[in-house]
Amino acid sequence: MSALASRLGILLSGRGSNFLAIAENIAQGKLAACEIAVVISNKADAPGLESARARGLKAVAIEARGRKRAEHDAEIIARLREHKVDLVCLAGYMRLLSTEFVQTFPERILNIHPSLLPAFPGLDAQEQAFAYGVQVAGCTVHFVDEQLDHGVIVLQKTVPVLEGDDAHALSARILEQEHIAYSEAIARVLSGEYRMVGRRYVKP
Ligand code: GAR
Repeated sequence: MSALASRLGILLSGRGSNFLAIAENIAQGKLAACEIAVVISNKADAPGLESARARGLKAVAIEARGRKRAEHDAEIIARLREHKVDLVCLAGYMRLLSTEFVQTFPERILNIHPSLLPAFPGLDAQEQAFAYGVQVAGCTVHFVDEQLDHGVIVLQKTVPVLEGDDAHALSARILEQEHIAYSEAIARVLSGEYRMVGRRYVKP
């Protein structure tokens, strides 16, 4: 699936199901040249950290509470460098990155968001979409820039809103697509075949 070798650094804050889907795809050889170099959480009790340890991966908690963003981010950047990370994947990392962080890894930070951006940025995107009455929902993998849920889109997947859905059922259906989308997006980035042309991510 991917052409260039890459050491991934995963940042997460909670459950970690997107991280696990990436790890599983790597284990199955679907992201052949990738390895997860380190998993970092801003929350020591994030279940995703425990899952990472159970898989034998390096897992580190760097608590954010009570610290300035710049100082916290600097420590994360140091860890990512220590582990020679060349692609940072935010997987349910519920914290804005500082400008310095974004500029340290230009075009090398991805995020997944559970809506078809630019609709419904921010928290509880699936609930926002359901409450708005959309008939098509979905998820977006995008590069991270200084604005919230804003960078260039790598890949989107759509999900129909079905009769009888509630926000919970819709979230679960979106999550299934997230688990497919993230690895596809990583492969797309690492293929070396795509370029940013303005806001479009295309094969020249
Ligand atoms: C996912 O639905 C992800 O798209 C969302 O948090 C969830 C994390 O789940 N991220 C955002 O809303 C970022 N703005 P996970 O911990 O099971 O991967």
